Amino acid sequence: MKRRLTYLSLFALLLPFLACQQSTKQKESTNTSDSNTVTLDSVAFGANIDGKAAKLYQIKNSNGVTAYLTEFGARIVGLWVPDRLGTLTDVVLGFKNVADYNNPAEPYFGPIVGPFGNRIANGKFSLDGKSYSTSVNNGPNTLHGGEKGLHFVHWTAKQVNDKVVSFSYTHPDMQDGFPGNIKIEVVYSLTDDNELHINYQAVSDKKTVINLTNHAYFNLNGEGSGSILNHDLRIFADQYTPVDSTLIPTGELASVKDTPFDFNFPKTIGKDIDQDNQQLAYGKGYDHNFVLNGTKVDGLNHAATLTGDQTGIIMDIYTQEPGIQFYSGNFMGDKVTLKSGKTDSFRTAVCLEPQHFPDSPNQPNFPSTILNPGDTYSTKSIYKFSTIK
Ligand code: BGC
Repeated sequence: MKRRLTYLSLFALLLPFLACQQSTKQKESTNTSDSNTVTLDSVAFGANIDGKAAKLYQIKNSNGVTAYLTEFGARIVGLWVPDRLGTLTDVVLGFKNVADYNNPAEPYFGPIVGPFGNRIANGKFSLDGKSYSTSVNNGPNTLHGGEKGLHFVHWTAKQVNDKVVSFSYTHPDMQDGFPGNIKIEVVYSLTDDNELHINYQAVSDKKTVINLTNHAYFNLNGEGSGSILNHDLRIFADQYTPVDSTLIPTGELASVKDTPFDFNFPKTIGKDIDQDNQQLAYGKGYDHNFVLNGTKVDGLNHAATLTGDQTGIIMDIYTQEPGIQFYSGNFMGDKVTLKSGKTDSFRTAVCLEPQHFPDSPNQPNFPSTILNPGDTYSTKSIYKFSTIK
């Protein structure tokens, strides 16, 4: 008893010191001094969606690179990386407040999309002769998992350490028409060489289809800083998958050679975007899946290199996935207000989504997206940030 009292008094003595440490930590997390837009504040950000608090999480490396993440959609809501001068810049679009993400007009800012990312033709596919109808939310098709998908649901987060947060969610059997209770875990982590890693795992109790990716909108000059048409882009692909007028792949793997789709040598996104080309007309710009050519770095496909013309920030994407969807923000159009106070103007961000090919469940020639019970779906993508020297 005596000993317990001693520990208690020691704790009481330490209390003011511990409280002070805590408030310093909080200050660090909301520091705005060396930034080009606002940082997120966990109190102002938080809100209850469908009765669940969607909390804000933060991971940070030793260089100050910081990712802000939330449980609503397992989204990246802020990503601060140093520019050529060392100034931290927020390179993803998002909102200051989690409630703003809970809006059907929200353009998929930063979430994990699935169970099947991108489109399924007419919301229909079959497995072992059994037909499934998924919720149709994009013209005649299913886009990014349907109405609820994974982007409009509450995930459970766990802060593993300062640099790692894991998110888990079980997609219930037949939600949006997808078979199986699909148990998903997504882990975001930062390394000290300025890499954001996203690791995905899933298991299902019924045969199903799966294609997970992250849907961040990048502007490497900083959120709200204007057009991305002068960003340089390189995509490591000799082929892409042409689409019909509803953006469903025709099944063909077409050569990029002598077309506006050749990004093998870096060029600005704007260079060929206005060419008279049927595929660009269907996409209203680039909105296509590229077939990665297997250029390997540490066993992963080097998918793309994007460079911000004003900041000199470079983002390299490496992935285990066979394709990458390049979407040049063609449907953006001042519909929502961003963290920076600007609106989401036409082509002010670019999405580069490592993934399997769209509509794979209906395309026997594409790499399979079937997940069998007893098997584990596992994939990873890395976003590496550096600057022009
Ligand atoms: C699709 C676009 C779609 C966008 C939604 C992209 O992955 O390819 O067609 O408009 O997501 O934000």
